Amino acid sequence: MGSTAIVVEDLTKRYGDLVAVDRVSFTVDEGEVFALLGPNGAGKTTTVEMLECLRTPTSGNAYLKGFSIRDPSSVREIKRLIGVLPQEFNAVDNLTVHENVELAAAAKGAKNVREVLEQLGLWELRKRTFSKLSGGLKRRVGIAMALVGDPEIVFLDEPTTGLDPEARRETWLYVKQLKKSGVTVVITTHYMEEAERLSDRVAIIVRGRIAVMGEVRRLVVEYGGKTKLVFEELDGRAESLLRERGYELEVAPDGRTVVKVERHQEIYEVLSALRSLSLDVYPEIRQAGLEEVFLRVIGSRLSERGELV
Ligand SMILES: Nc1ncnc2c1ncn2[C@@H]1O[C@H](COP(=O)(O)OP(=O)(O)OP(=O)(O)O)[C@@H](O)[C@H]1O
Ligand SMILES: [Mg+2]
Repeated sequence: MGSTAIVVEDLTKRYGDLVAVDRVSFTVDEGEVFALLGPNGAGKTTTVEMLECLRTPTSGNAYLKGFSIRDPSSVREIKRLIGVLPQEFNAVDNLTVHENVELAAAAKGAKNVREVLEQLGLWELRKRTFSKLSGGLKRRVGIAMALVGDPEIVFLDEPTTGLDPEARRETWLYVKQLKKSGVTVVITTHYMEEAERLSDRVAIIVRGRIAVMGEVRRLVVEYGGKTKLVFEELDGRAESLLRERGYELEVAPDGRTVVKVERHQEIYEVLSALRSLSLDVYPEIRQAGLEEVFLRVIGSRLSERGELV
């Protein structure tokens, strides 16, 4: 790592009265995987498509390897530097896998079609017609089209939406391989596990603005909250014992009891307190993760504005 691959400065996009992207600033280091998270309509796609020179910013700027996205003479260089999997990816229906990837390669003057098809396990399937592939395979062809020409920066807009768990994990492997080979990756996703596993840093965008940004672990510590032990049913005795011992308890409307603990040790303490009442119960343990961070960040915006995000 070391040098910076992407610098985004006050990037803004308006559609009439709507500010879809509102003074967004961040940097991405070379070789870093950076995830953009946020609810539907937050402005993720608009942000990445401005970086891909597909949409023109209203104000602000961004630099990819030093090339300004607002300088028309840089656009060619930027297109050569980047690989893109759009959110609404589609290829030419009546062409084969091979022909589609060839087309993408020709557009970039790239020659490594076979290598990329082999890397993605598509070589055997190269003669299949695109329109006849399953959704997951189509997406994989999209990734192949993004990777021809050895891009230095790859943008993946929701690469695993609609994929089965195994296909999703395969995609994660490709992203990890990209990172290993020093490629910078910007990924948008609605899957928190995906962001946790792949990214060095994440930014959560809410209504066009970055609400929080940083390393996943740091965000989880800062915003994730306590570990929760969820019990299907606890009787009054158990609840008062735990309250006596100083635990924070919440009874959910569905009757489940949530006990919050800060340290791992406390999980055992809670369970042994319950055993002292001859209650042999097994809670669901929900550890704080990016999902809690996400919900908390969005929740705070929700209450702050008193309306739905
Ligand atoms: N071409 C356009 N004209 C007008 N409004 C647009 C246009 N493109 C996007 N928007 C609006 O800008 C906002 C941000 O949209 P965007 O697609 O960037 O969100 P997103 O974070 O990618 O959402 P999702 O998670 O659903 O993909 C939305 O309110 C959307 O309706
Ligand atoms: Mg989007």
